[in-house]
Amino acid sequence: MDAGLHLRGIVAGYGQGDILRGLDLDVSAGQITCLIGPNGSGKSTVLRVISGLLTPRAGQVLLAGEDVTGRSPRAMLTLGVAHVPQERSLFPAMSVWDNVLMGAYISNDHDAVARRADEIAERFPIVARRRHDLAGSLSGGEQKTVEIARTMMLDPPVLCFDEPSVGLEPRVRRTIFSILADLSSDGRTILLVEQNARSGLAIAHNGGVLDAGVVRLTAPASELLDSPDVGRLYLGAS
Ligand SMILES: Nc1ncnc2c1ncn2[C@@H]1O[C@H](COP(=O)(O)OP(=O)(O)OP(=O)(O)O)[C@@H](O)[C@H]1O
Ligand SMILES: [Mg+2]
Repeated sequence: MDAGLHLRGIVAGYGQGDILRGLDLDVSAGQITCLIGPNGSGKSTVLRVISGLLTPRAGQVLLAGEDVTGRSPRAMLTLGVAHVPQERSLFPAMSVWDNVLMGAYISNDHDAVARRADEIAERFPIVARRRHDLAGSLSGGEQKTVEIARTMMLDPPVLCFDEPSVGLEPRVRRTIFSILADLSSDGRTILLVEQNARSGLAIAHNGGVLDAGVVRLTAPASELLDSPDVGRLYLGAS
């Protein structure tokens, strides 16, 4: 059975209007799929549908062959699907360490959570180094790294990232992308939404272009990067 994540005919929006209009998307197991598209095209809406924050009006979300459409965010997390949102999501007035522990809020096994936090601190040195500092005192890139570390507390096999590099300087952006590539080499399934389309596609296996509520084009990421039409329409000047 296909262990990936598949969207079929998704119709979703806010209030009266539809933003997604019969959207199909395949996120292959163990690979990075990068979804690009203009501002307001519905990229974040796709991730909200997957993580259960927004229930589609029609269509299906399939996870490893199972229909999980309309499940709650908590249910999706329990199924191993995590979402790192576009906006900053750490609690700024809590310590880095307490923020990381919050990543395991659905678990009641305190010993296991503490052990996992130690593993996370080894993998993400900033968590160990700044553990006592308030999360709000970290730079944007540091906060994003801690958000990713927090998300890894539950060891999710499927990760959705909403523009993780937005607002970061190029050097920090590269660090974030290399963390994503590392998570992928663990065999995780990753859906990456990116405004920095070239950088996102560069670490991805597959790419998709979202336009007017549907995925217009899907191809291996390298093909999208090399396509003059895609470059002209979606990637900006190189
Ligand atoms: N909570 C909401 N209520 C009403 N409309 C919304 C809401 N969230 C998003 N929208 C609208 O839905 C459309 C798609 O928004 P979405 O955030 O999914 O786009 P996006 O592709 O992620 O854009 P960006 O690149 O700016 O992050 C936009 O027109 C937006 O104004
Ligand atoms: Mg968005």
